[in-house]
Amino acid sequence: MKVSTSSILLAAMALPMIHAAKPKNYVFFLPDGYGPASETFARDYANYVDDATVKLAVDDLAIGLVRTKASDTLVTDSAAAATAYACGIKTYNGAIGVDDNYLPCGTVLEAAKLNGYLTGLVVTSRITHASPAGFATHVYDRDMEAEIADQLVGYSHPLGRVVDVMMGGGKCFFLPQSDEDSCREDDVDLWSIAEKTYDWTMTSSREAFDNLRNGESGDLPFAFIPTSSHMAYEADRDPQREPSLTEMAITALNLLDRKAKEQDTGFFLFLEASRIDHAGHGHDPIAHLFDILEYNRAMLAVKQWIDDHDDTALLSAADHECGGLTLGVPDYAWYPSVLTRAEHTSEYYAAIYKDIVHFNSTEAQRESLIVDRVFGDYGIYNVTPKEIAGLVIASSAAIYLGDLLSARAGINWSTLGHTAVDITLFGYGLNTAKMVGNHENIEVGHFMTTELGLKLKDVTEQMKSNESFVTSIQPNVEAKKLLKRFQLEHEHDVMQAHHTRKH
Ligand SMILES: *[C@@H]1O[C@H](CO)[C@@H](O)[C@H](O)[C@H]1NC(C)=O
Ligand SMILES: *[C@@H]1O[C@H](CO)[C@@H](O)[C@H](O)[C@H]1NC(C)=O
Ligand SMILES: *[C@@H]1O[C@H](CO)[C@@H](O)[C@H](O)[C@H]1NC(C)=O
Ligand SMILES: [Zn+2]
Repeated sequence: MKVSTSSILLAAMALPMIHAAKPKNYVFFLPDGYGPASETFARDYANYVDDATVKLAVDDLAIGLVRTKASDTLVTDSAAAATAYACGIKTYNGAIGVDDNYLPCGTVLEAAKLNGYLTGLVVTSRITHASPAGFATHVYDRDMEAEIADQLVGYSHPLGRVVDVMMGGGKCFFLPQSDEDSCREDDVDLWSIAEKTYDWTMTSSREAFDNLRNGESGDLPFAFIPTSSHMAYEADRDPQREPSLTEMAITALNLLDRKAKEQDTGFFLFLEASRIDHAGHGHDPIAHLFDILEYNRAMLAVKQWIDDHDDTALLSAADHECGGLTLGVPDYAWYPSVLTRAEHTSEYYAAIYKDIVHFNSTEAQRESLIVDRVFGDYGIYNVTPKEIAGLVIASSAAIYLGDLLSARAGINWSTLGHTAVDITLFGYGLNTAKMVGNHENIEVGHFMTTELGLKLKDVTEQMKSNESFVTSIQPNVEAKKLLKRFQLEHEHDVMQAHHTRKH
């Protein structure tokens, strides 16, 4: 077809008047505790086992860096970080969807819901854990997991039910204290309330999950909560009982997409590889490695899903680094080969150790079993008498084993907590390249909100105007004293100190 010059000109002139294309659906994927060293760690291992220079799936998706400090300390926790991403505000460590004054802040997920979008939370920790909680609930302390569960199903949430799909662990917070599996301290049978009052399909069976047929079947709201506490580490996962994070992510994507299309809206989905972090706290290179590799498989699957759904955008960033992982200790070498020896996590072998200790046998027999079935199977070879004696007095057998295996691999962990280093931002799909650069975590939240055309302020105001709710979530004097808030020196105070000092 021949197009005249004038019509091309007209089309070009019309362009600025058309609104820039925006994604209809947003996926935010949080690899909890995934720092830059963890990324090199997993890539080096992948290169070693494939005997080639392979990339990690996320390597092609890196677009920037994220700064992570909380309002009260330079080292954030998952609660303050989730609130930063979800609400676009800096708050104190431990805060779930509340600001420094314990007032609720509207989240991108809630704003999406109020604007007709569908929403989902898919994680491998308890669904009541800090990261998912920060996107859909409001409590002053992350440990209030029963209250978080209440709000997740819609019960006691100021906006009613804001979540359409939930997948993750933590069933114990949905059961009344009379149930032996409960971790609540009240008689609320949230599982039944969710089903009866809020229409949830609540299930913990793998079969019910499979019946979703990758999301081609099933109705909303739908909750799949297969485990009492966290779901298994990928290295210990029993596929008969628990699907992988990748399976859950794709199922949730298809389910939300199908339902959103039926009502001609979009969706917001929060995904989390929750336990990369737990493995960092536990100094366990095996748990860390296999949860990172599963995060990469899930990222690749989401990327490929977006290739077929170009109205969907993906951003992914950790909340913080964890463990202070160092590759190359004492110097100029580390050995991924050591990590090929174990089939399970240090937690798994620590449990075997606890069983063996109680065997009715001679001490020599027990020691030989411990050398073979605990140290040996976890990959700690040529174990010394001093190392065996150390296990007996270790305050955590799992961390002790993790440290020994790490030392043999030439890696080390410098803390049992988080660190302040910047973490990597990944993105794929419409407009995500605009996030190139180094950003505060709150800017990631602002960006997603703007891309979806949402206004968090309205949601915040709506919740703040609910006086009974605001009152109900305020900590009392005793609770305030117990909250462990750190004091962050304000930069300008520090600057002033430098200026006024004579040298
Ligand atoms: C206020 O919040 C409570 C939950 O604490 C909720 O049940 C109630 O419906 C909300 N009221 C209004 C007017 O939104
Ligand atoms: C341990 O084993 C010995 C020998 O088999 C037996 O006599 C003893 O009763 C056992 N002790 C316990 C506590 O089971
Ligand atoms: C490993 O880190 C710990 C601190 O977590 C430190 O005490 C230890 O000396 C380090 N090991 C080596 C070989 O540097
Ligand atoms: Zn952590």
